[in-house]
Amino acid sequence: MSAEKDIKEKFREFLNVYWIRPEHSFLSTYDYAVLRDIFPLPKPNIDLACGDGLTSFIWAGGKFDFSFDMYHSVKDTDVMYSDDVDVYDCFEKDFCKPAIVKQPDWNYTYGLDLKKSMLEKAKKLNFYENTINHSFDDPIPLEKKFNSAFSTSLFAFTSDADVLSNRIKNVNKILNLNGKLVMRLHERTFKQMLFHNYYKQYGFKWAKKLDKFIYDHNPDEKFDLAWWVEVLKNNGFEINNIHNVVPRLVAYAYLIGFRPMFRTFMSMYNMLSLEQRTELKKQWIPDLVELFEELMFEETVTKIDPDSKNVLYLIEATKIKEI
Ligand SMILES: C[S@@+](CC[C@H](N)C(=O)[O-])C[C@H]1O[C@@H](n2cnc3c(N)ncnc32)[C@H](O)[C@@H]1O
Repeated sequence: MSAEKDIKEKFREFLNVYWIRPEHSFLSTYDYAVLRDIFPLPKPNIDLACGDGLTSFIWAGGKFDFSFDMYHSVKDTDVMYSDDVDVYDCFEKDFCKPAIVKQPDWNYTYGLDLKKSMLEKAKKLNFYENTINHSFDDPIPLEKKFNSAFSTSLFAFTSDADVLSNRIKNVNKILNLNGKLVMRLHERTFKQMLFHNYYKQYGFKWAKKLDKFIYDHNPDEKFDLAWWVEVLKNNGFEINNIHNVVPRLVAYAYLIGFRPMFRTFMSMYNMLSLEQRTELKKQWIPDLVELFEELMFEETVTKIDPDSKNVLYLIEATKIKEI
């Protein structure tokens, strides 16, 4: 299959699961355009902060039927703008029968996450051979070592330098020598483009509401690429590749996306039967694909936004030293 066809099909798979928040599909497909050349990760392998595992499952080639989506198991969607609610942090027992039509082409030996409910969902996928409910801020209670570790979020969602470097240290501890780390980072300018800055500059309350902690949970600009390279080197890693992913335009789309509509969309979702929702999806997903699939390719985005910068990195590194 050509790369272009593969990437477009992945977009469709993501939309099937995240149809109410298509911007998530947009971002994850950009990641996939890079990850498809990095995966599969050598085993034993571990997905750090794997959440409900759905994104990793789809990246690895898993597919669901049309009846499945990730909104079967969410909570408190009527308080979308409340500061302290994670709507996804819940597990309903009837959350999938996940209607899997294809298992991924490869899998993970372990999935680790802080939130029990997310791991309960992940277990339903038969994708992680084992799961650990644990904070990666503490060394993990395992004798086992891994040949690769992956994380999209552990290094992107905190502003504390000590926490960040401690997590890199903990990755060193769990990898075998020559083990591989694949991690996602936010480029230093990412924080400058968050809407929260309008709250800080002008006091716009809507900008704070829209933000939902994204600003507070992102590394400061001082953690630029040079800082990360230093931290990785100091903790026994050699950097093999730094990929730029996700153009600024896509990041803007992601940061607003359908977030403001989510509460109302979820009310509609709950008023409809599964059959009705499935019918809606059959109409909605092809429409989204038609609108957005060309934007999956950087050439198009660069024409629209010629100064476009990429705002996320994917880094490939190898452990070359015990620390
Ligand atoms: C945005 S989700 C990403 C999930 C998944 N990797 C994905 O790409 O869809 C972030 C996850 O990180 C987990 N997390 C945050 N801090 C953590 C920590 N210190 N140790 C382990 N997991 C953590 C959260 O529980 C949450 O499930």
